Amino acid sequence: MTTLLRIDASAQLEDRSLTRRLTGLFTRTFLAAAPDTRVIRRDVGRTPVPAIDHRFIHAAFTPPEARAPWMDARLALSDALIAEVAAADVIVMGAPMYNYGMPSALKGWIDHVARIGETFSFDLARGDAPIEPILSGKRLAVLSSRGEFGFAPGGARAHLNALDPALAACAHYFGVAPDHIETIAIEYQEFKDDRHRASVEAAELRARGLALELAGAGALAA
Ligand SMILES: Cc1cc2nc3c(=O)[nH]c(=O)nc-3n(C[C@H](O)[C@H](O)[C@H](O)COP(=O)(O)O)c2cc1C
Repeated sequence: MTTLLRIDASAQLEDRSLTRRLTGLFTRTFLAAAPDTRVIRRDVGRTPVPAIDHRFIHAAFTPPEARAPWMDARLALSDALIAEVAAADVIVMGAPMYNYGMPSALKGWIDHVARIGETFSFDLARGDAPIEPILSGKRLAVLSSRGEFGFAPGGARAHLNALDPALAACAHYFGVAPDHIETIAIEYQEFKDDRHRASVEAAELRARGLALELAGAGALAA
């Protein structure tokens, strides 16, 4: 059985959010192609995780056998989020562009998932590359939306795109290799013109195709 982890990070709800529209479409298409899929939903847009603080860092960097009860309590949410990622074969992530980067809700989720001894190991014996991922073999679909346009490589605003590179840099914490990230982005949302409508249409088509492909039903996508 496949497990799909759906993460939503838009502060807007279903009636207004384009990324929720894409993650919803992706999930429905995935389920239609692979009905026995287990779907885990984590909505950090609606219910943001608290920011990490000095107590979180102290707890995370204390070896499990030496942790005081308050440390286990402080890490409980992080443990739950990591368990969801560990269980997932495919992660679909609604990632709106906010101020050229990711929403703080999504960054907060990453800050809880990136944990020493859980999602990465750190060993200076490895020289200048001390970090190694612990999870592997997962696929990531980033479904984004932007008010402006031209953020793809080679585009007029590619140099302003602080969202996609940041997600790619962190993907190893989720067990995703660089060539297993697919990004689909709606653009022109703030222009509300034909270019936007065409962008929504193209993104929906691609999101459906990607869902079929990742559900193992690539032949149906043709
Ligand atoms: C707080 C906020 C910040 C935004 N910052 C940017 C930005 O830096 N660049 C951009 O192109 N669009 C920006 N937008 C537009 C959003 O990317 C766009 O509305 C997108 O559709 C949001 O995703 P959603 O529809 O799932 O909520 C911003 C929107 C909001 C609400």
